[in-house]
Parts: sequence; structure tokens; C-alpha cells
Amino acid sequence: MKRSSSFKGYILFMTIVMLFLAVRTQLSSDFYSKTCPNALQIVRTEVLKAIKTETRMAASLVRLHFHDCFVNGCDASILLDGSDGEKFAGPNLNSARGFEVVDTIKAAVETACSGVVSCADILAIAARDSVVLSGGSTWKVSLGRRDGLVANQTGANLGLPSPLEGLDAITAKFVAVGLNITDVVSLSGGHTIGRARCTTFINRLYNFTGVSPDSTMDASLLSKLQNLCPVNGDGNTTTALDQSSIDLFDNHYFQNLLNGKGVLGSDQILFSSDAAITTTKSLVTSYSINQGLFFNDFANSMIKMGNIGPLTGANGQIRTNCRVVNS
Ligand code: HEM
Ligand SMILES: *[C@@H]1O[C@H](CO)[C@@H](O)[C@H](O)[C@H]1NC(C)=O
Ligand SMILES: *[C@@H]1O[C@H](CO)[C@@H](O)[C@H](O)[C@H]1NC(C)=O
Ligand SMILES: *[C@@H]1O[C@H](CO)[C@@H](O)[C@H](O)[C@H]1NC(C)=O
Ligand SMILES: *[C@@H]1O[C@H](CO)[C@@H](O)[C@H](O)[C@H]1NC(C)=O
Repeated sequence: MKRSSSFKGYILFMTIVMLFLAVRTQLSSDFYSKTCPNALQIVRTEVLKAIKTETRMAASLVRLHFHDCFVNGCDASILLDGSDGEKFAGPNLNSARGFEVVDTIKAAVETACSGVVSCADILAIAARDSVVLSGGSTWKVSLGRRDGLVANQTGANLGLPSPLEGLDAITAKFVAVGLNITDVVSLSGGHTIGRARCTTFINRLYNFTGVSPDSTMDASLLSKLQNLCPVNGDGNTTTALDQSSIDLFDNHYFQNLLNGKGVLGSDQILFSSDAAITTTKSLVTSYSINQGLFFNDFANSMIKMGNIGPLTGANGQIRTNCRVVNS
């Protein structure tokens, strides 16, 4: 009798442990409610400070979360230092920014609750707060991601979309991480804030290949950008991705596309390419006339993107310093 009841107790205990582990493999919005109840507020305060110092930081933080999630899942792998890291991959080199701000946020969170909140979750929260503080929609951020142990430079070079790619290639990269064509369009709306360097769109401005300048670009935008980005000029010069409302999170990005005023080739093809006619063009039009629809879809797609390959349970770790794996 005694043995059997302790055996039942053991089974019950193991069942509870397994249920607990099963629950922990799912992200949840209240993940830190007991272990770090002020985490969300602390991140928000630090993001607000950073944006007050430099408005563009909102865009840079949104992009960091995107570039993190597309490479080995949302595991803060982009934050790891080292010449073999993701920071030195083509899409991030001289481009990804905001790392010092993430350090500051992490330090503030560590002071409140040491060793509890992951760098991957900080990126997800900071991205949401950046959108809200720029005038965009809000959503409940799913939490409980753990930090990865490796960076993947090859993965970043192969998995992140390029502004020179066609719609099919870009869509394939989204599909590879579990997103779909609706997500391609809604998330491209992230380009309603932030800047791009001449080097990322100069291919559209001159007759380098015998087919440019890009005939889908509005003539006045073309001459403006030719002035900004002369051949053999400074490829690091930047301009607004949304030329009509640079730091405001709104649906002007999509209105611009209807007018040939997308800056990147990968932006304008959502409306102007042949491939767009049967895929993305109608959704671009819908977002251009219905900001509420864009905000709603953007929020849903951000939640979806934040769910790409998270490390949970006993996988990964909570990094102390976002730039290095714990020793
Ligand atoms: C669809 C494929 C995408 C391509 C090809 C692409 C490409 C680019 C490029 C080339 C830049 C300029 C980088 C530079 O000049 O250094 C940029 C900036 C940016 N991207 Fe994307 N992007 C894509 C999707 C996204 C997504 C899904 C998001 C987030 C939801 C996003 C958010 C941003 C933001 C906010 C900036 C401005 C960053 C800053 O000012 O620091 N992009 N993107
Ligand atoms: C890096 O990413 C590629 C996908 O592009 C994947 O096949 C590979 O397993 C990843 N490597 C590591 C070490 O995570
Ligand atoms: C994309 O996925 C979302 C759900 O995540 C769904 O609502 C939407 O209809 C999908 N879009 C397409 C074109 O399949
Ligand atoms: C671009 O260059 C090619 C050959 O180099 C030429 O045939 C074509 O007319 C040029 N197009 C424009 C728009 O200047
Ligand atoms: C942009 O600046 C970085 C360093 O600040 C430099 O290494 C790089 O060569 C510059 N790129 C271009 C295209 O001028």
C-alpha cells in the first residue's frame, strides 16, 4: 500500500513537472509578472529616453528585433559581439544600430531583477514600445524567450532579405520562417519610420545595368535622390524610408508606394512589379486607405514574427551581458 501510494505520488509529481515544462515552452504575456513585475515599465522608460535623445532609435530598435528573429529565431543572436557574429553580416554591417541602447535597457532591468529577463525579450518589448511611441499600434508582447548561445553570420547573410531581391525571393525568406505574404506586406510597413543609406537604393537611380533608372520611381523623387546620392558619393548618406512622414508610424509608406515614392526596390515592388498584381498590390492599396487595417495586421504579424523559433524551458540561457554568452 505504502509503496503504491508513494508511486502514485511520484507519478503525480512527474505529471506536474511535465505540465510545467510544457507550459514553459509557450511564450506568454505575463511571463515576468512574478519574477520581474516592473520589467515592462523599465524597458518602456529606457526606450522613451533613447527616442527623446534620437528619434530614429525607434526604427533602429524595431529593425533589431526583425533581424534577430529571422536568424536562428528570436534569441538575441544579433547582439553577440565578435567578427564572426551577425553584426558583420552584409545586411547588418554599417547598418544595424541601437546596440548601446539595448545595453542600457539591459543594465536597468538587471538592476531591478538580476538574471531574469532575456535579451531576446528585451528586443521584443523595445520593438513594440518603439512602434507605440512613434504613433503606431500596440499589442501584447509574448515573453519567455531565452538567449541563444551562438551567432550565425551565414544564417544572417542567407536568411535576411535584400532590397535588391524580387518579390518571390523575399516572400520565400518569410515563408522559410513561418510567415506569409500578408506578413511581407504588413511588416514592410515598418519602413514607415527610419532611414536607408544611398548604397541600399543607388541601383535604382542610374543607368548602371542598361535598364535603370528604375522607371517605377516618381520623377521628382528620382531627381531628389540623385542629388542626395551622386555616383561615387558617400554611400552612407541616409534618407527617410517614408519620405512624407519620417518619424511617424502611419500608413503613408503605403500611400507613397501608390505614387511611385518607395525608396527601396523591395518597397516599390510590393505595388509596381508584375509579381505584385496577383499577390501584394491589392493589400498595399487597402493599407493605403485604411490605417486601422494596417495597424491591426502589423500588430498580428509582429506577434507572429516574435514567435519564430524561441528558445524556452532549459534551452539557451538568460545572458547577463547581451553582447556575450555567460561564462
Ligand atoms: C521585406 C523585406 C525587407 C527588406 C529587403 C528590408 C531592407 C531594409 C534596408 C535595405 C534598410 C536600410 C538599411 C541601411 O541603409 O542601413 C532597412 C531599414 C529598416 N527596416 Fe527593413 N527591410 C525589410 C523588411 C523589414 C521588416 C519586416 C521590418 C520590421 C518590421 C523592417 C524595419 C526596418 C526599419 C525600421 C528600418 C530603418 C532602420 C533605421 O533607421 O535604423 N524592415 N530595411
Ligand atoms: C545557421 O543558419 C543556417 C540557416 O541559414 C542553418 O542551416 C544553420 O544550422 C545555422 N547554424 C547554426 C550554428 O545555428
Ligand atoms: C497569413 O497568416 C495569417 C495568420 O497568421 C492569416 O490570417 C492570413 O490570412 C494569411 N495570409 C495568407 C495570404 O495566407
Ligand atoms: C541605359 O544604357 C543603355 C546601354 O548602356 C542604353 O541603351 C539605354 O538607352 C540607357 N537607358 C536610359 C534610360 O538612359
Ligand atoms: C560607411 O562607413 C563605414 C564606417 O563608418 C565605412 O567602413 C564604409 O566604407 C562606409 N561605406 C560606404 C559605402 O561609404
